[in-house]
Amino acid sequence: KKIPWSIAQAEKGGYKHFMLKEIYEQPKAIADTISGKLSIFEKKNEKILTNFDKIQIVACGTSFHAGLIGKFFIESISRIPVSVDYASEYRYRNPIIDKKTLIIAISQSGETADTLAAVRLARKKSAKVVAICNVIGSTITREADYTIYTHAGPEISVASTKAFTTQLAALFLFAVEVAKVRKTIDEETENKLLNELSEIPKKLKTFLDSENEKKLIRNIALEFYNSQDALYLGRFVNYPIALEGALKLKEISYIHAEGYPAGEMKHGPIALIDEKMPVVVIAPKDRVYEKIVSNIEEVKARKGKVIAVTNANCPEIKKLADFTIEIPTTEELLYPFLTVVPLQLFAYHIADFLGYDVDQPRNLAKSVTVE
Ligand code: G6P
Repeated sequence: KKIPWSIAQAEKGGYKHFMLKEIYEQPKAIADTISGKLSIFEKKNEKILTNFDKIQIVACGTSFHAGLIGKFFIESISRIPVSVDYASEYRYRNPIIDKKTLIIAISQSGETADTLAAVRLARKKSAKVVAICNVIGSTITREADYTIYTHAGPEISVASTKAFTTQLAALFLFAVEVAKVRKTIDEETENKLLNELSEIPKKLKTFLDSENEKKLIRNIALEFYNSQDALYLGRFVNYPIALEGALKLKEISYIHAEGYPAGEMKHGPIALIDEKMPVVVIAPKDRVYEKIVSNIEEVKARKGKVIAVTNANCPEIKKLADFTIEIPTTEELLYPFLTVVPLQLFAYHIADFLGYDVDQPRNLAKSVTVE
């Protein structure tokens, strides 16, 4: 009897798709990135951690969303002003760049045409460039002044998952290191932040291994896979996660989805809400928890269906939401590592229920090397 076998199947290691495999690889990928040798943190590179007074992040797609979260990390921890731009916008708007500007270019592949063009432009104007990249020897790593490698391993699925969370890890480490060198945090805070970060892989693994949560996310996907639209809401550091959750759904399930800062709901998106509209609300117990509970009340008053990503012991949300996915608790800046994962899984299961080619969605490429 012939056993069906293919290299592609073998590489998926028992998972139905690369995307699912890569979602499950995140605890290890993050741990590897944290313990990886980050050349920027060697003594000889310390100058670049002190010799600038503003930071400009440039990236595309999912890497851009990592950049938006990086802004929260760097501004909160190192107190340096950060701007974040899509590379395709940055390169054509005659940006203000000088020797005191540090550019951080984030790219999984290191080959994205717009991001490379932004790097070249900045270097021409004598700014220093730090690349955050997953591919050793890629073009961006050769052109940047310094590279911080993420250690996600090869990412095959077009929709990015583990590259994203490892970019977050690299950005967080960068923020702490800059703060340390510039003395904007004391040793106790530094240790506390790094300890919390090092707990993330374990927490994520607990979540990913939970049969209850797995079943729950599949069931929610089953409930909503025929939806026409979806809205994602978040605040503070989880606002970019709302954007990323919506992007994941669009990319692989072809369902129209929008991410919004929850506070902006009343300025437009609330008009879309009716009893058919799934609204994914990212609501961990952080500084804006009460605010987002009110946003959920507003959605429920218009009969929207609420899927909340929150912590255990949030009775206010449990009472209001149609579904609650519970993630472990952490330091508030670190929630994106935990809140993005249920959204990746939700998008994955919807695309799978719809029978789409999850790893190779239509019209999209893993890396966009032309403009
Ligand atoms: C493409 C991919 C996305 C990715 C983006 C940026 O659009 O489909 O998953 O986020 O490019 O890629 P990069 O390699 O620069 O991070």
